[in-house]
Amino acid sequence: MSKLDKDSKIAVIGSGSMGSGIAQVAATAGHDVCLFDNNAEALDKASQKLIKILDRQVEKGRMTEKEANGIFARIEFCNQLEDLAGADLMIEAIIEDLEVKRNLFSHLELIADETTILATNTSSLSIANIAASCNKPGRVLGIHFFNPAPLMPLVEIIPAVQTSGDALVEARNLIDSWGKVTVIAKDTPGFIVNRVARPFYGEALRILEEGIADVPTIDWAMKEIGGFKMGPFELMDYIGNDINYVVTETVFKEFFYDPRYKPSFTQKRMTEAGWLGRKAGRGYYDYAKGAENPEPTKDEKLGVEIFNRILAMLINEATDALYLNISSREGIDLAMTKGVNYPKGLLKWADEIGIDKILGELNTLQDLYGEDRYRPSVLLKKISLNQGSFYPEKVMEN
Ligand code: NAI
Repeated sequence: MSKLDKDSKIAVIGSGSMGSGIAQVAATAGHDVCLFDNNAEALDKASQKLIKILDRQVEKGRMTEKEANGIFARIEFCNQLEDLAGADLMIEAIIEDLEVKRNLFSHLELIADETTILATNTSSLSIANIAASCNKPGRVLGIHFFNPAPLMPLVEIIPAVQTSGDALVEARNLIDSWGKVTVIAKDTPGFIVNRVARPFYGEALRILEEGIADVPTIDWAMKEIGGFKMGPFELMDYIGNDINYVVTETVFKEFFYDPRYKPSFTQKRMTEAGWLGRKAGRGYYDYAKGAENPEPTKDEKLGVEIFNRILAMLINEATDALYLNISSREGIDLAMTKGVNYPKGLLKWADEIGIDKILGELNTLQDLYGEDRYRPSVLLKKISLNQGSFYPEKVMEN
């Protein structure tokens, strides 16, 4: 396996939003980078975008012109897959399509050195399946950045069942050296963040569908009472309702149709209507110039009810992820604060609020609705029975 260090050559395949961001991160860390795309226009766009981003950094005094020029000079924009030969690490960030990715990986192996490590930035596909397209699957793993890659600190590192211990350690150490916060996640649908965050959207949509509150009120409750930077509907509009819907649908299917992840008709219709959010000028909110959006109903009691319900569902999901060893408790908490800017780690938050209170909220919902969607995690029940907490040593310290 390649020993990865600051002199390692990095190849990035796919120059879209993620690939161009990853190339920028690697070049900023001092690596020579080869950024490849099979679409010349996309490659050109990536190069123009990078010049703009670096210019802005210089304008804002965040780096010198010399540094910006150095970063740009270290990135080679490549239009032949063969140009990637000699790379120590290849990171794939092409379209989210299993067969296209498998096909690419089998080609990459023909170009790669014996020791090159191959990584995928997939958000939702099985790393084991992608690795299985290679003759040497032990060198394949998931390295999952968050959007925008240069700004978001979190990177999920996902070993497949086939991944060798060496490849995992080398890749993780390298990404750590880029100043990122890495957490190891099990190769399961949505890894950590895209699984644990599902109720932030799903439960907000359910509350809307039931007519308990409207869009601005739910967003207001999560921001004002919960301390989240963005409300669920603002965030869905930002991510794109099409993208958010596909992730939900994929997670639902991959979990063998567990009702906890059931997608929402409301979101499906928004996508079908082309109300994709900010990028379309219309989503849950109207982004047209001068458009007036409805004001929230700032009812404290209603706000607390909304926040408690969504938070209990998020904590339940985080607990189940811990129960099923998707990551460590610290990994799960770090993932949500560093990958999606949550104000607190969910397990730490559960300790603060009290496990019994969270369990009580879920039991009430399950009794009322009689739906499996609200079933409390076994681990939550166990901790409650033992009158424990997620971070018992913290209680001892106090
Ligand atoms: P994008 O659509 O912006 O870019 C994809 C790029 O790949 C395009 O430039 C396209 O020309 C190129 N491409 C497609 N097929 C190719 C092939 N066979 N060979 C070479 N280049 C090819 O997509 P985006 O958003 O950058 O996503 C890329 C990957 O990263 C996907 O797997 C996605 O699930 C994942 N991801 C996306 C995040 C996001 O928020 N957009 C966050 C984290 C992961």
